[in-house]
Amino acid sequence: MAMASLSNPITYLPRTRLGFSSSSRGHSFLNPKKSRAIGRKTSLSFTTVCKAVSVEPQSEIEGLNIAEDVSQLIGKTPMVYLNNIVEGCVANVAAKLEIMEPCCSVKDRIGYSMIADAEQRGVITPGKSILVEPTSGNTGIGLAFIAASKGYKLILNNARINEHGKASAVQSIWSRTCGTISGVGHFLKSKNPNIKVIGIEPAESNIISGGKPGPHKIQGIGAGFVPRNLDLEVVDEVIEISSDEAVETAKQVALQEGLLVGISSGAAAAAAIKVAKRPENAGKLIVVVFPSFGERYLSSVLFQSIRDECEKMQPEP
Ligand SMILES: Cc1ncc(COP(=O)(O)O)c(C=O)c1O
Repeated sequence: MAMASLSNPITYLPRTRLGFSSSSRGHSFLNPKKSRAIGRKTSLSFTTVCKAVSVEPQSEIEGLNIAEDVSQLIGKTPMVYLNNIVEGCVANVAAKLEIMEPCCSVKDRIGYSMIADAEQRGVITPGKSILVEPTSGNTGIGLAFIAASKGYKLILNNARINEHGKASAVQSIWSRTCGTISGVGHFLKSKNPNIKVIGIEPAESNIISGGKPGPHKIQGIGAGFVPRNLDLEVVDEVIEISSDEAVETAKQVALQEGLLVGISSGAAAAAAIKVAKRPENAGKLIVVVFPSFGERYLSSVLFQSIRDECEKMQPEP
């Protein structure tokens, strides 16, 4: 997960944005004409389109927008300002909604790119190869839906290929943690070296900040080691967020912004809010990545308090 504080003049946002008057709400980002007219000089025009891009549409019907397959729905996720949870902030906070990927997480991107890359190198073939990945969670899901759509068998979680399997090839693909901050950070800094990239790690397992690994509840981050993939050259700062703060902020993002997000999104939002409160960031834009959709965490600690509440409910006579 990555978060970038974009400095002036590239992303100048006037303080007026922070008042959130009723007239500043309700813009549709699907309609460029209606997009946030805040009278600023900016290269970030929010004419965001969240739509499938069919390279060569087969349909004769003009304007029909149908993807060729699910992989074309990956990416181009929309962004939205956070309006209610940002009390006391002097910068604007906008969320990049990776929760709106086809399989609901930022890992849809790598699921596609790992398989597409292996195909391009000619080492796997749909219908023949079995893909083996020692991972679970969102990376596993990202691989699974692409494998399904392309016709691969996929084995996750350290599974071993059965010696009687009929596979003609086996491809082991290693998981790549910290890819988001390293990749996004590198790209953004190549566009604007003034952009600040801020990482988040669990306070209970703060090894990048020089602490010790430990158990925590922020699924998806804080692997307990410094991942080989992490490019610290592009990371300007690392903020520690506790599991409790991540869970509570994720709940507040749902309750106050209507965005059902996962625990790591809660951690990212908590860090973004801290950064947006710093006086030196007045008027800037803080972009926070929400890596995964909250529905995936219904049985996790994220919804524990709601489960407890429900269990205590008594039928009214
Ligand atoms: C929910 C969630 N958040 C954050 C991350 C971290 O992404 P990255 O490994 O690219 O840093 C992951 C990775 O799997 C994840 O599943």
